[in-house]
Amino acid sequence: MQSTSSINEVLPTPETLGKLAYQTFQWSKNYFGLAHKALSSRLLNLASPMNQQAIPLDAEHLQRLQQRFDQLIEVDWQDAQQGIYPHSLLFDNPWTEFFRYYPEIWLDLPQMWERAKGKKYQDFSADVLTEDYPSYYTQNFHHQTNGYLSDTSANLYDLQVELLFGGTADAMRRRILAPLKQGLQAFNDVSPRQIRLLDVACGTGRTLRLLRAAFPHASLFGTDLSPAYLRKANQLLSENRGELPQLLQANAESLPYLDNYFHAVSSVFLFHELPGEVRQQVIDQCFRVTKPGGVFVICDSIQVSDSPEMMPMMENFPQMFHEPYYRHYTTDNLVERLEKAGFRNISTHVHFMSKYLVAHKPA
Ligand SMILES: C[S@@+](CC[C@H](N)C(=O)[O-])C[C@H]1O[C@@H](n2cnc3c(N)ncnc32)[C@H](O)[C@@H]1O
Repeated sequence: MQSTSSINEVLPTPETLGKLAYQTFQWSKNYFGLAHKALSSRLLNLASPMNQQAIPLDAEHLQRLQQRFDQLIEVDWQDAQQGIYPHSLLFDNPWTEFFRYYPEIWLDLPQMWERAKGKKYQDFSADVLTEDYPSYYTQNFHHQTNGYLSDTSANLYDLQVELLFGGTADAMRRRILAPLKQGLQAFNDVSPRQIRLLDVACGTGRTLRLLRAAFPHASLFGTDLSPAYLRKANQLLSENRGELPQLLQANAESLPYLDNYFHAVSSVFLFHELPGEVRQQVIDQCFRVTKPGGVFVICDSIQVSDSPEMMPMMENFPQMFHEPYYRHYTTDNLVERLEKAGFRNISTHVHFMSKYLVAHKPA
């Protein structure tokens, strides 16, 4: 019979089991995304073979993707281990919503394909008011029905992003938390309750949810142009304990806040959806509202300059999803734009399919 001490020697530690659970969780979402993509593209080929096809990825590119995926989930686990955010965040997934809305994604596909085939990129239902928005915004981004301007679109958005990124969307969003924590060390003399953080183009509030977990006492603010996405964000964020973030409908080109108001500003997956000159305008606004000594963190798609080996993926994305400004984005010099606004001490990082720019406003 084995003694208790020898059983303990072979039993994995709680830490190892936790990590295995997390890896299994991420892999299951990855397989789900792969199965969805394989089946939906097979159906698309049968239903509408004339539609645009993605460039098939060769073994080398698939291996690179795999390595980047593994690196991302390793960093995600390590940052939780270091206390940058609670481990519970690693398993925070809106399962009920996912299973509830998954059939709707399939039911919406024929309309999306029709729009893609007919090159109808600004096709909105009669009840959607588009006049109050800039024309670059009234697009069926990703061929989404009613773009960002309906409650149905807001309900499907997070699941669509998860399917696109094989379940890594939050893991990529979480990579802004370590640089934000580091940047906020400049305000160590300020009480945590007086720290103000703004998430620009907060969408359905996923990033604000992560910020709330990592900065439980800070005052959080979120802005977006879409009332439907803000309604969804309000619903998601109300589930959390702690103070509700203040949400405002606003164009990021003219943020409705005082100069030097925020200790830190973030923006996730916004810049690739803006024309070049609007990117600059938004960066200028983020500079204006950041306090001297504060930090601005951008998370968005990888670019050619940092990931030339991922070119086929960057070519496929706007081919398969309506992303009118993406090609320009992939070669845009964001460091130059940040410097032009006044930011200094700018660093860039890459995790999986995302790039991060960490910029400081001189004190
Ligand atoms: C790809 S989504 C990203 C949403 C969210 N940050 C996330 O991590 O999922 C882009 C978001 O930017 C918002 N948006 C686009 N242009 C904007 C602008 N000029 N001002 C404010 N929000 C804008 C859209 O409404 C949408 O919610």
